[in-house]
Amino acid sequence: MPWNFQDIHHQAQSEAQAIDSLQALEAFRLKYLGKKGVVGAIFASLGEAQPADKAAIGKGANDLRTLVEGLIVAKSSGLTPSKSIEERIDLSLPGTAESLGHTHILTQTMQEIISVFEQMGFVAIETPEIETEFHNFTGLNIPIDHPSRDAFDTFYLDAEDPSAKGRRLLLRSHTSPGQVRIMKEHKPPMAVIVPGRVYRPDAVDASHSFMFHQIEGLLVDEKVSFCELKGLLTEFCRRFFGPKVVMRFRPHFFPFTEPSAEVDINAEILGIQRKKWLEILGCGMVNPKVFEGVGYLKGKYKGFAFGMGVERMAMLKYGINDIRLFYENDVRFLKQF
Ligand code: PHE
Repeated sequence: MPWNFQDIHHQAQSEAQAIDSLQALEAFRLKYLGKKGVVGAIFASLGEAQPADKAAIGKGANDLRTLVEGLIVAKSSGLTPSKSIEERIDLSLPGTAESLGHTHILTQTMQEIISVFEQMGFVAIETPEIETEFHNFTGLNIPIDHPSRDAFDTFYLDAEDPSAKGRRLLLRSHTSPGQVRIMKEHKPPMAVIVPGRVYRPDAVDASHSFMFHQIEGLLVDEKVSFCELKGLLTEFCRRFFGPKVVMRFRPHFFPFTEPSAEVDINAEILGIQRKKWLEILGCGMVNPKVFEGVGYLKGKYKGFAFGMGVERMAMLKYGINDIRLFYENDVRFLKQF
């Protein structure tokens, strides 16, 4: 006989006596009646038992179950839950509200800029961050010896451009390659904006980052003038910064626009104590060489393009003085916007 039922019964009885909490009672129930409990083990042993022992083993297991069930009923009436919910929790305390996240200030600024241009009829299109030298430079009339092509000014990848043997792919250094891509695929008239990230191997400080955001604009049709570019950007700045904004167009040079200008915003009028004029964007009339490069009929189209830094726009609008704040994701900064 493999089981000593007398001992097992005594053991169960003395264990039951020591039970002083509902948790201990549950542990006791599991030990004897649970799936892997003692009663189950005794029944399981029947398969290998001597035929002569089988009846006694079956009876022993049944008796043990009845005994344990009885002990549990007897014990449970004397036990109360250790502490009621009301004792453990002060239901009169104010609850902890779930804090809801919201879009990042840069995303908000991008969406705001995009929506102003959408109201003026522009369509937003995204183009790749990994670019070819053709789209980032050559197609934009940026000559082979231009400093921005240098490895100090552009991140090149360890990957060959599948469309140009021996040339490496790169991380776009501006959103202007979007102009080339879109013009290669579409015929004028068109009015598009290209929002997205751009990369330059600059040392990080309060006003520089190796990655930042730009929004490119491009409008092409048969008759387009610099006046219209000025009018559009002036109206954009009024809608974005408010009617008090004061801006100036300063002559500049870009290989892909001619004539070109940079636009500065008067920071004093916006109430930001820094330099008086802060540059926000570059712009100009699309250089005919760019039209040629995408295969447009010579002399048929005119257009203007502009590219603005999103971080700059947000810093000016909200009085933020350090570009690194955008990327550190300190909630104390982010939740102010
Ligand atoms: N791509 C230029 C830059 O990053 C900005 C620009 C865009 C200038 C379009 C003119 C026209 O500085």
